Amino acid sequence: MKLDLSTLTIDEKIALLVGRDVWHTETASGKLPSLTLNDGPSGLRQVVDKNDPAAHPKSIKQDRGTASATAMPTLSALSCTWNPELAFLDGQVIADDCIERNADVLLAPGVNIKRTPVCGRNFEYLSEDPYLAGEMAKSFINGVQSSGVGTSLKHFCLNNIEVDRLFNSSEADERTVREIYLPAFEKALEAKPWTVMCAYNQINGIWASENRKYLKSILREELGFDGLIMSDWGATHDAPRALKATLDLTMPHSSRHLKELREAYNRGEITEGEIDERVEKLLELIEKCKNADKKVKRTKEERHAAAVKIAEEAIVLLKNDNNTLPIRDKRLMVIGEMARNPSLGGGGSSFVYTAHNFEPLENLIKQNLCEDTEFISATDAYSPEVSVSRYNGLSALCYRAMEAESVILCIGNNDLVEIEGVDRSTIKLSQNHEKLILTLAKANPKLIVILYTGSAIDMSVWKDSVAAIVQAGFGGEGISEALANVLTGKVSPSGKLTESYPMCLEDNPTVATRPSVICKALSKLQNSSADKYTEGVFVGYRYYDTTDTDVLFPFGHGLSYADFRYTGLTILQNGDTDFTVSLTVTNTSDIPAKETVQLYVSDIISTVERPDKELKGFAKIDLAPGESKQISMNLDYRSFAFYNVSLGDWHVENGDFDILVGASSRDIRLKGRIRIALPREKQYTVAK
Ligand code: GLC
Repeated sequence: MKLDLSTLTIDEKIALLVGRDVWHTETASGKLPSLTLNDGPSGLRQVVDKNDPAAHPKSIKQDRGTASATAMPTLSALSCTWNPELAFLDGQVIADDCIERNADVLLAPGVNIKRTPVCGRNFEYLSEDPYLAGEMAKSFINGVQSSGVGTSLKHFCLNNIEVDRLFNSSEADERTVREIYLPAFEKALEAKPWTVMCAYNQINGIWASENRKYLKSILREELGFDGLIMSDWGATHDAPRALKATLDLTMPHSSRHLKELREAYNRGEITEGEIDERVEKLLELIEKCKNADKKVKRTKEERHAAAVKIAEEAIVLLKNDNNTLPIRDKRLMVIGEMARNPSLGGGGSSFVYTAHNFEPLENLIKQNLCEDTEFISATDAYSPEVSVSRYNGLSALCYRAMEAESVILCIGNNDLVEIEGVDRSTIKLSQNHEKLILTLAKANPKLIVILYTGSAIDMSVWKDSVAAIVQAGFGGEGISEALANVLTGKVSPSGKLTESYPMCLEDNPTVATRPSVICKALSKLQNSSADKYTEGVFVGYRYYDTTDTDVLFPFGHGLSYADFRYTGLTILQNGDTDFTVSLTVTNTSDIPAKETVQLYVSDIISTVERPDKELKGFAKIDLAPGESKQISMNLDYRSFAFYNVSLGDWHVENGDFDILVGASSRDIRLKGRIRIALPREKQYTVAK
């Protein structure tokens, strides 16, 4: 039975507006249970006392540690599966760890758009495309909450870079916000997340934590969110203003904010009625957590198996010259520290410590191959920095590499390179890594590079020197087994990129507008700095495709060991702006494989400038050798609409649209054209 507000004193109610400590809510003098709020998107990160037996040994610093948990792929990897069912599974697995550790709300998923390739938290986010990000986040939330654990959709909103995230003002025009930065939240809200977390930054000059337009008018009234809004940790600047903007909970505990609230109440600036409205949201959240039917659904082994399964489908085969993969050679060499100690995730609040013991990749590959496969070993093969600087080590390595038929190099970014709170200054691998790749490629051109990174990499210096490139992502604790299964052909790779890989950072439109160092220095004085979204809606492939800019690998790209034929495109009109797009996909190879078919819409002639194409549907299918399947995807009003700022609404202009079906944004296999001819009364109503 939900506690009646009238049983609480005003002081108790004000206290409930602020966390009890870092990870828990207040109890109103014990009248309420305290809720536990824990990260994160790649698994449970629960800070515990260093003496807690659950504390992972490697996590212990001073008096604290982090409880071991199942390390799932980061959301950037999960999204590369393009498989909402796996997003649901991922959420359920993390929820199991939460239930066992009594965590009530998981502070995930983050759906911020990957606006710039350098954002330090891109590994934690899903995509540069809002449609894909929304669909995957919605399934993840459904997965977590199906087990009775709450989620926190974050960070609302326009939190797209890490530098000065506590001060930045993200400055974007209304149409850009509506078409690019809100839709992933809008779609994810269909899963009814129990909470939303506001961002650190300002949104067009007002802190997200006290931005009434975004929290109340847009999030609550327009998008219909009726749960609890919490601040990001330390994101509240003025608690009374935040309360009036309908922020419900300031995290973590802050005596300053409590004092501000009490004084504002005593001054009559905030009323008991306003306080009650906010406290009510916490009471409702407590009820949800208390009444939830929490059942652990999988054993630890089953959770690990799920991590492997998801990592398998997250692996993206970027390049595979002369069908280098799957491995057929008999004399192999595996090099690189990540073959034994893979990067599981980026640094910061999402980092998960797993108790899983990693088997070296070569052993796992060996298990999948016939006995007569020989692995050439080398002393320096796994040192953390097989660097050019230690020439003698490298030369010995190269000599050994020359003996192998093919060489597998496991390389990537660790959790200090891709980390919350910091943006990358380059999207290249380290110089040592690049030199290592080029040197090894000279010794053995049949070099297979396995990338363990959570975001786009500029590999233009070495891409053409190697035979194959596999993007393993930050694939969690199952990544080594998943790689062994994919590299040996036990599983055909089916992952596809969810962010464009540009030829170089300078090709990205946001790079030119990044606040300059001088501006940053000045802004520190003014305690804020504007990050201008001057590229507008032209983010990621929306920019590269519209400007015909070459990319290293396009959005939606990912090779398979199988080949697929797309035939029989039909477009059925079911209404003014409702269409069903159908086609047949055939697996023309002799191996079972999965394919993700992507559906893009292109407005041929429009009053406003629109992207060359936009993703408006996708479907992942599993095909046996020679099998054909028909798939259908639906398009509706929003599939064709742009946001018309003068109308303050979505608007479909009459005219022709191309319907593009492809294996990536730049591998369009089938194309159709439809005409929309809305009668005058349906075109648009005069602005409300
Ligand atoms: C961090 C992150 C947020 C996280 C929270 C709690 O600063 O921005 O994503 O959930 O604080 O760790």
